[in-house]
Amino acid sequence: MKILIINGVNLNMLGRRDRSIYGEMTLKELNFAVKKYAASKKVKTSFFFSNSESEIVKKLQNTNADGVILNAGAYSHYSYAIRDCIECISKPVIEVHLSDISKREDFRKIRVFDGVVAQCYFGEKEKSYFRAVDYLCGL
Ligand code: DQA
Repeated sequence: MKILIINGVNLNMLGRRDRSIYGEMTLKELNFAVKKYAASKKVKTSFFFSNSESEIVKKLQNTNADGVILNAGAYSHYSYAIRDCIECISKPVIEVHLSDISKREDFRKIRVFDGVVAQCYFGEKEKSYFRAVDYLCGL
């Protein structure tokens, strides 16, 4: 099984963004932890980061992975373009967030990918990604 992990806007700032909310890891460290966890389940991973909504859409449209783990950052709360893209690709997409979006500002409680993603995990830092790997393994 091959999983694509996409991190979107501002996630390259991990390690420098509010650590009490997002944790201590840089994006590189986070990706390494996810790669190691997935490898322990015999899952192959590839990683993609972009600040650009259009690059994320292009990557989703063209992926040959069996499933996708997507942390679209703030796009998760308002990007109908990414939502439509998830809807029209025939791959399971799991939405993840490091922080607990249900206990933060009201705009973060809006999840526009709800209904088109197979599952959403949030609030557990890197473990949100691990749970998404487990979910995809169980399909
Ligand atoms: C985030 C939560 C979003 O609300 C925020 O805009 C991010 C990161 C998370 O991983 O907790 O950039 O997706």
